[in-house]
Amino acid sequence: MKGLILSGGKGTRLRPLTYTAAKQLVPVANKAILFYVIENLIHAGIQDLGIIISPETGVLVQEAIGNGTRWGVNVSYIVQSEPAGLAHAVSTAREFLGDEPFVMYLGDNLIGSRINGLIETFSQSQVDALILLKEVQNPCQFGIAEVDAQGCLVRLVEKPQNPTSNLALVGVYIFSPVIHEAIAGLTPSWRGELEITDAIQRLLESGRAVTSYRLDAWWLDTGKKDDLLTANTIVLDEWARRDLQGEIDDQSQISGRVSIAPGSRIINSTLRGPIVIGANCLIKDSFIGPFTSIGDHSRIESSAIEHSVILNEVHIQQIDRLEDSLIGKNARLARHEQHRCLRLMISDDSVVEF
Ligand code: TTP
Repeated sequence: MKGLILSGGKGTRLRPLTYTAAKQLVPVANKAILFYVIENLIHAGIQDLGIIISPETGVLVQEAIGNGTRWGVNVSYIVQSEPAGLAHAVSTAREFLGDEPFVMYLGDNLIGSRINGLIETFSQSQVDALILLKEVQNPCQFGIAEVDAQGCLVRLVEKPQNPTSNLALVGVYIFSPVIHEAIAGLTPSWRGELEITDAIQRLLESGRAVTSYRLDAWWLDTGKKDDLLTANTIVLDEWARRDLQGEIDDQSQISGRVSIAPGSRIINSTLRGPIVIGANCLIKDSFIGPFTSIGDHSRIESSAIEHSVILNEVHIQQIDRLEDSLIGKNARLARHEQHRCLRLMISDDSVVEF
């Protein structure tokens, strides 16, 4: 079985970060989301991975991931000329996929469990597709599946006004090669995309069996700022460990699960986990509170930060309280003693709340 990871798209909801970076490379607990996806596929025994990339951010993805040798697997890249839909991405990867079944995994989706169970279920049942489903409280905002008592798919409904099920489609699917025939017959939807849900619906209409698998663990689509902060919180809460490297002076207090990478210096500061701090950072005269990730080469001085994701090479100085924030690479935040006004240089689509 092959793995197809969708790491193209526009990432408009995560602007401005996605003007200069691929959204799948934004870190959660200091690790790019795409790494969690790849590791999950590899853990399930998949050795041959294809990654869909866009012409705009594809090189960044290739540089970050490489050819798979670090994991001992094969990674191929497939350029999708435009983000024309999930089914379009599959048809772009037709040659890579050949006539094998495959797992399709959206590169911005994080799930709190392994996918081995799905693959076993697919292999044991004579079906042409398996969809991963998660119970949600607000079904109107998702693609929803109606299933029978055995878990077989009856119908898919996109963002239903009067939902008849609360089972949302998570971004992980398994398909037999029959999906390619279904995709070949598709026409673009109202939003101009070739929809994978339409292809699955076609499988059903042609009498093919589609089964489902319930996800009991959490599922996070990291497409927006608040989702990303939630993902960071959950991942730190579940997976952060205490690992103190670098230098910590006697005036500093570190409590809970705090991970500090080599080369970082903590001076006269209080750190309360779960927190992850990258390599070669300086944290001085500051308070870093729970659920915060700080990327490599960042400097935090005379500031207090909590529940935030700070990317690499950020400088923060004399900021009394920073909460619920997502700060992009190389950003500068400082309070100026003389100027009692705001002086901003922010990029397009930035959000600043005072
Ligand atoms: P989406 O989040 O649906 O789309 P997007 O990345 O364009 O984001 P936004 O809505 O903020 O503009 O995509 C889900 C995943 O699939 C994501 O990792 C990008 C990827 N994708 C492709 O690779 N090709 C595509 O044609 C589309 C639509 C998405």
